[in-house]
Amino acid sequence: MSGNSASNKSDKSRGNGRAGAISRRRLIGTAGTAGATGLVLGAAGGATGYAATRDDPPTALTSVGSTEVMFHGKHQPGITTPLQACGHLVAFDLAAGAGRKEAAALMRRWSAAAQRLMAGEPATGSAADGSAHDTGIALDAGPSSLTVTFGFGATFFERTGLASRRPPGLDPLPPFSSDHLDAGRSNGDLWVQIGADDALVAFHALRTVQKEAGSTATVRWQMNGFNRTPGATARPMTARNLMGQVDGTGNPKPADSDFDKRIFVPGGRDAAYDWLAGGSYAVVRRIRMLLDDWEKLPVGQQERVIGRRKSDGAPLSGGTETTAMDLDKVGSDGKLLIPDNAHARISAPERNSGAAMLRRPFSYHDGIAADGTPDAGLLFICWQADPLRGFVPVQRKLDRGDALSPFLRHEASGLFAVPGGAAAGEYVGQRLLES
Ligand code: HEM
Repeated sequence: MSGNSASNKSDKSRGNGRAGAISRRRLIGTAGTAGATGLVLGAAGGATGYAATRDDPPTALTSVGSTEVMFHGKHQPGITTPLQACGHLVAFDLAAGAGRKEAAALMRRWSAAAQRLMAGEPATGSAADGSAHDTGIALDAGPSSLTVTFGFGATFFERTGLASRRPPGLDPLPPFSSDHLDAGRSNGDLWVQIGADDALVAFHALRTVQKEAGSTATVRWQMNGFNRTPGATARPMTARNLMGQVDGTGNPKPADSDFDKRIFVPGGRDAAYDWLAGGSYAVVRRIRMLLDDWEKLPVGQQERVIGRRKSDGAPLSGGTETTAMDLDKVGSDGKLLIPDNAHARISAPERNSGAAMLRRPFSYHDGIAADGTPDAGLLFICWQADPLRGFVPVQRKLDRGDALSPFLRHEASGLFAVPGGAAAGEYVGQRLLES
């Protein structure tokens, strides 16, 4: 298993004024005990005095609010952390005149703020805009599995005079025929991924990150997403996307022996890039779903587009969700049960020389677009040790004949190098910016 191991801190009073009512919190490491994605945390914990907003008797703070993800560790949080209910993706560009020194100071401020917020503490003190007070947006809530993850885009290295330290994995993604990319919502010098199981906790972190950017960096684009709320299903289940499909089944699992090799960048290969050891590459795509067209398809056809059953995610070759796909199995009519152009077949590692990635998305819905259809889809985020052995070959293949492609439009794209986790006393990216 990679990253920090799970631990529990019981009966720890937070004592920061915000949540004196919370008498328990649960800590999880970055390699979530509930698996990489899609699984909810078990109900546990409990506290007193939580002020209900209705006339119900006071409700205990559940494990949803009290769960804390560790900031420090071998890897940054938000990669193997179980999917959270709310997410914000935000990219920044360094301001004119801001270079390596200012970027280092920003990463130090951001890391300190992330560490405090992830521990459920208020954001006080160093706000670059001079406001020393916390906004209060997250008052009363526990850490709610908040994670804040930082990455660097290719342009960051030119702007900070660190071009020689830019790893080859940050070479621009090739164009794909299905791209309808909006440059203004793509890439960026710096990228921040925020996830939490409470919308106010997530927004609080977003505001803090924006405020701490001060005059060093300006927002280039921002996207908001969501997933199923932990506890909404009777048992832990893989999440569904806005097409209604069970999405995340085929992901590599942290317990797999080759998980770290596939997802995290190894150290010791080239001193220039050693700062990225324990890190990963995030490919971010805003993929619009053409829901009006998709929803017209009968369920049987929808299932053949993916190669899995809609109800439970089981492969069309039989079994349950976790049964391996039998890509050669044919039906009584002699036809492949998982069709040739099925999305799950085309993207399967065994059909892509082992290319694999950890998909950890958020759904999004930004209202109705100018064409009158839902502006909704997937903030597709995938993690890999090398985009050329993860996203790129798989997307190339999907681009050529995936049955799902006619129902999708890739509208924005980003590629970011995400440094390894900060050790205690260190800030994220310090090994790049100060060596
Ligand atoms: C909105 C866009 C997309 C939707 C709705 C979608 C949906 C799905 C679904 C339902 C599955 C089957 C269940 C599972 O294993 O998770 C799946 C599998 C998969 N998808 Fe996608 N997908 C999308 C885009 C992409 C893209 C852009 C890539 C990579 C370039 C990709 C790569 C994969 C991979 C690697 C698998 C697992 C295959 C396996 O090992 O079984 N998907 N996707």
